[in-house]
Amino acid sequence: MKDTKAAPDIFDAGYIDRVRAFFASRPGGDKKSPLAHVRTFGCQQNVSDSERIKGMLAQMGFGFTEEPEQADLILFNTCAVREHAEDRVFGNVGALKGIKRRRPDVLIALCGCMVQQEHVAQRIKESYPFVGLVFGTHVLHRFPELLYNALAGQKRVFEIPEGDGSIVEDLPVRRDGKFKAWLSIMYGCDNFCSYCIVPYVRGRERSRDPERILEEARELVRGGYKEITLLGQNVNSYGKGQEHGVDFPELLRMLNDIPGDFWIRFMTSHPKDATRRLFDTIAECEKVARHFHLPFQSGSNRILKAMNRGYTREQYIELVEYAKSVVPGISFTSDVIVGFPGETREDFEQTLDLIRRVGFTSLFTFIYSPRKGTPAAGMEDPVPHKVKTEWFSEMTALQEQIAAAHSASMVGSVRRALIEGEGEGYLEARLSENIVVRVEGEKSLIGKFAEVEITGARSRVLTGRVKNEL
Ligand code: SAH
Ligand code: SF4
Ligand code: F3S
Repeated sequence: MKDTKAAPDIFDAGYIDRVRAFFASRPGGDKKSPLAHVRTFGCQQNVSDSERIKGMLAQMGFGFTEEPEQADLILFNTCAVREHAEDRVFGNVGALKGIKRRRPDVLIALCGCMVQQEHVAQRIKESYPFVGLVFGTHVLHRFPELLYNALAGQKRVFEIPEGDGSIVEDLPVRRDGKFKAWLSIMYGCDNFCSYCIVPYVRGRERSRDPERILEEARELVRGGYKEITLLGQNVNSYGKGQEHGVDFPELLRMLNDIPGDFWIRFMTSHPKDATRRLFDTIAECEKVARHFHLPFQSGSNRILKAMNRGYTREQYIELVEYAKSVVPGISFTSDVIVGFPGETREDFEQTLDLIRRVGFTSLFTFIYSPRKGTPAAGMEDPVPHKVKTEWFSEMTALQEQIAAAHSASMVGSVRRALIEGEGEGYLEARLSENIVVRVEGEKSLIGKFAEVEITGARSRVLTGRVKNEL
């Protein structure tokens, strides 16, 4: 898409007042604040971006609603990682057509990774005329201006500049959680795994200044947050090419030194950049959770090469073994793709073998989905979809067995947990290892650390009781 304007990389709060004034001047606008319905698709990066969008909206005087029918602004923050993700967005956007017909004043807007692709923006322009505002990932900070132009200009606004992306600090934020927070430490991705759309829609890798990260973390701890999850597509390459010389292990150490009782988590790690020093650091940092999400994608060296992942199965296994030796009890989770172009039964069996060897506590499993413009989309892909779904089921069945055995092995132990919420008749406690236990207890424990005794395991569901509040 054409670069319409060189985006200023600072947050210009000027348009906030203009949007406020726009709604105040509508009939009855002095009595009633406008309502926004913001829906997020995709990963935590998008969830975090939506918190910034909601921060900007709150400053513009918006209230929020779960009901699109009641909203003055309906905004979808979209994901492009697999075809299914895009289909879901298109399906949900299509369903908004009737709302726009009944209430022509409503503004329907799309942002995020999916619309950053030129062919998608074009399709929206042509086939979804009721969508009035579309903006890409690089102009999040210009949202008030773009919103104002769409509202006051009474015209469709499409703003999807290409480019590497930048870092914009000082955007307001309205966090979804009261005791768990996302903290972006970097944006973009330079890895270009051959199947993946993310580097194309999120721009080049760029790291935030460590001081800004520490400042935000301190503020969260002061605000009573008990868990901070650091976000980046590849957190292990944090700080690369920057003058400050702070790399990811060093950043973890600095965060760990912030006084207070809280856990630090992070995602996602790329195996090619995970070092022994990182695990040595984790071993020494008591606030860093004993859990590592380390996507391996495939257990076959041939496929890993075709995926452009930059490590072998042997290196991956060795790294995990080292981690388990220096951080006893650390749990591993991972992402896996089944049915990458050219994958054979033998390759797939190598993936099963790796799963058995590592013993993940849980896996996020995906069937390969071709993404337009990525190298893998042009590769020969002879295996029928039906076979891929059979492999997929075989893999999930294996993982179920492994997880059930792991759950059973935890019965009888006492662990520290964060009480996160409630289900029907139980509270949900999350262990440092990122495993959820259903416990009995008072609702007042939600948002607090507690000592939990694990008393039972049925298939993958662990049950227990709260021994002490911590
Ligand atoms: N940056 C992270 C992952 C981001 S995408 C990392 O490198 O680990 C999340 C997961 O989606 C990936 O780990 C991968 O397993 C899956 N994925 C990405 N592109 C895909 C595609 N085209 N088809 C199927 N799964 C895909
Ligand atoms: Fe995609 Fe690979 Fe970057 Fe992860 S590291 S976002 S899988 S290109
Ligand atoms: Fe999807 Fe974009 Fe995340 S493509 S997975 S929302 S970075």
